[in-house]
Amino acid sequence: MSYFEKLKEIKNFGSVDFMRIKYQGKNVILRLVDESDETVILLTKWREMYRNNFGTDFSISEKKTREWLRKGVLENPDKIVFVIYVENRKIGIISTAEYDEKTNSAILDTMMKDPTYKLPGLMTTIEKVYLKWMFDELNLSKITGFLFSDNKKMMDIHQKCGWAIIDIVPIQKISTDEGTKWEKISSKLDNMKAERYFNLIELTRENLMKHFDNIEYQILV
Ligand SMILES: CC(C)(COP(=O)(O)OP(=O)(O)OC[C@H]1O[C@@H](n2cnc3c(N)ncnc32)[C@H](O)[C@@H]1OP(=O)(O)O)[C@@H](O)C(=O)NCCC(=O)NCCS
Repeated sequence: MSYFEKLKEIKNFGSVDFMRIKYQGKNVILRLVDESDETVILLTKWREMYRNNFGTDFSISEKKTREWLRKGVLENPDKIVFVIYVENRKIGIISTAEYDEKTNSAILDTMMKDPTYKLPGLMTTIEKVYLKWMFDELNLSKITGFLFSDNKKMMDIHQKCGWAIIDIVPIQKISTDEGTKWEKISSKLDNMKAERYFNLIELTRENLMKHFDNIEYQILV
């Protein structure tokens, strides 16, 4: 099944239990994102809390989150978002987007955890299983991604999954109709005064598997 067919199939099943992971005696479940008020409220709150870690910024609102869920995710054949549940509490999200036919790759997209929920190592474990699912079920040759080089927490957990940094790119903040966006600086002169940098990262199945310890999980769909 192709990348797009697989995402479509999962979306057709709706928000059912999709993946189960056992972590420190707890049942962790991933489900396709839903459009309930609770999810919209949580996603808006987390997006606002972590706004400094995103490539774009705008006036964040529940209305915009709801629109993004419908148009940007559920009706977008190139994107999927899963909600992470621990014992029925929604504690975060993880997602995939931007299939590239030339390299048969896609990106590990937004991943975030409710900062009030603490279970050390949980997100590293979820990331590993999720990435394995991307290789196994989306049949990707590699997975790519980017993040701010100052996002140490995220980089730390990526490193535990086997990601490699392939480039560090100077960026600048530019204005958009909606707000602002961080963009690669093209001029060499401006590079000298870059405020921030993006780490461009890449993962092969081989490197992931070197870091894949004994994790109990099942794909349910
Ligand atoms: C990135 C993020 C998901 C990481 O969450 P986290 O709680 O640090 O990750 P983990 O659940 O894997 O826990 C890691 C911690 O547990 C510890 N740990 C304990 N047992 C562990 C185990 N078995 N495996 C891995 N880590 C373990 C680690 O040492 C680490 O501790 P430290 O933070 O003191 O170094 C979270 O910080 C977040 O949501 N950040 C904002 C979102 C964001 O920036 N998104 C990017 C834009 S898309």
